[in-house]
Amino acid sequence: MVTLFFFFFFLLLLLFLSSSVSSHSQPYFKLPLTANTPFISATEALIHDSLRLSSSSLTAPIVSAASSGAGHYVASLHLGTPPQLLRLVADTGSDLVWSRCSPSSRPRSSSAFFPRLSSSFSPFHCYDSSCRLVPHPHRRKGKLSCPRSRLHSPCRFLYSYSDGSASSGFFSRETLTLTSSTRPIRIPSFRFGCAFNVTADRSIHGVLGLGRGPISFPSFAALRFGNSFSYCLGDYALSPPLTSFLVIGRRNSTAALRYTPLLSNPLSPTYYYVGVVSASLNGKVLPIDPAVWALDRATGAGGVVVDSGTTLSFLPAAAYRCVVRALAKRLPRAAQLPGPAGFDLCLNASAAARIPSLAFRLRGGAEFAPPPLNYFIEAAEGVKCLALQPVAADGPGFGVIGNLMQQGFAIEFDRVAGRLGFAWTGCAE
Ligand SMILES: *[C@@H]1O[C@H](CO)[C@@H](O)[C@H](O)[C@H]1NC(C)=O
Ligand SMILES: *[C@@H]1O[C@H](CO)[C@@H](O)[C@H](O)[C@H]1NC(C)=O
Ligand SMILES: *[C@@H]1O[C@H](CO)[C@@H](O)[C@H](O)[C@H]1NC(C)=O
Repeated sequence: MVTLFFFFFFLLLLLFLSSSVSSHSQPYFKLPLTANTPFISATEALIHDSLRLSSSSLTAPIVSAASSGAGHYVASLHLGTPPQLLRLVADTGSDLVWSRCSPSSRPRSSSAFFPRLSSSFSPFHCYDSSCRLVPHPHRRKGKLSCPRSRLHSPCRFLYSYSDGSASSGFFSRETLTLTSSTRPIRIPSFRFGCAFNVTADRSIHGVLGLGRGPISFPSFAALRFGNSFSYCLGDYALSPPLTSFLVIGRRNSTAALRYTPLLSNPLSPTYYYVGVVSASLNGKVLPIDPAVWALDRATGAGGVVVDSGTTLSFLPAAAYRCVVRALAKRLPRAAQLPGPAGFDLCLNASAAARIPSLAFRLRGGAEFAPPPLNYFIEAAEGVKCLALQPVAADGPGFGVIGNLMQQGFAIEFDRVAGRLGFAWTGCAE
């Protein structure tokens, strides 16, 4: 009886200790996050986004956020022994972490990761179970076929994007150095794609996949820091660009976040879906059939994702038309100007103060109310255009809350509770 009592006492003590550890001294770490400069034009953003969202497949990787480095946010991290600094596009719309790699042992520039200069680099073996996690060039009928002839056959990966670009190389293990809330820590066996053949902008090294899949960066970091990450995307237009942070683990935020559930699409393991209930202008709900926003879990079509790798935002076509009509009606005629091709509503920047407030009511009741400059983009000197687009009929069919729309919000991807938290902070924290 006494032993039993002590056993329970001990159990309680253990529970108490573990809960106090997780709520107070849970480590987290921060990666510097900066808008890649110079910012692209509105037209370039439209071309790139349309390409990125042109794949009609929900499972094939979308166009790499790295093929145009501009219009994106770049996270910096250190990989290898001794550590090499990499600049990777922070992309919540893909899973694989990859960097351009160079076989050279005498680097003349720092535009790649140099595995020969690292004592901790090691490609996975083709037979390693981790190799099954990446798309493989020799996969036949869903099975991985490793070349039998060679004993040390590395795990090859091939990530093909819908614009015809690709990233291919060796899926590998490396040591990652992170600066946590307390001190730098070295984490061995970090999985990443070392890409020897890649189409990417030279100003960046590759992509930091932040998606929901098992090979993404947060999925890896979850083992150590808790299954949650957050960021605040600074204003592109600031010069020099604001450095904010990508925080992995639970941040002790002073901002009171509002939450909406993250929805999942059984046909798409990567994206963070949220449920949009309605859209309003100056507090007046627009007449949009709520079914327009819905995610069809049977076909995988529809829904709205939060994507840091897309610049503009994309609304279901019926919702888009309604928003454009309603905005045009409320803006002074004289201030409306013809804009570049592809933009339906542009105005003289001197009328920017008269842009009505657009807000989205999300599932669970939270309202996402971005400031007007999150949905109007500078398209020419003194001309601002609506930074929204209709979802293309031949694309993957989901709406997108792009990175411009997210600017200035602290956004938390709480993957444990399955919810997205947000609060407008101006990235001041
Ligand atoms: C979290 O924030 C609160 C209020 O700002 C502060 O009192 C507390 O010490 C912080 N905890 C940690 C672990 O930083
Ligand atoms: C590298 O990419 C180019 C263009 O996509 C392709 O033609 C070439 O075969 C690739 N090389 C290797 C080694 O995969
Ligand atoms: C915007 O309006 C101002 C006057 O309010 C005018 O001087 C300027 O030319 C207009 N800009 C454009 C691009 O039309």
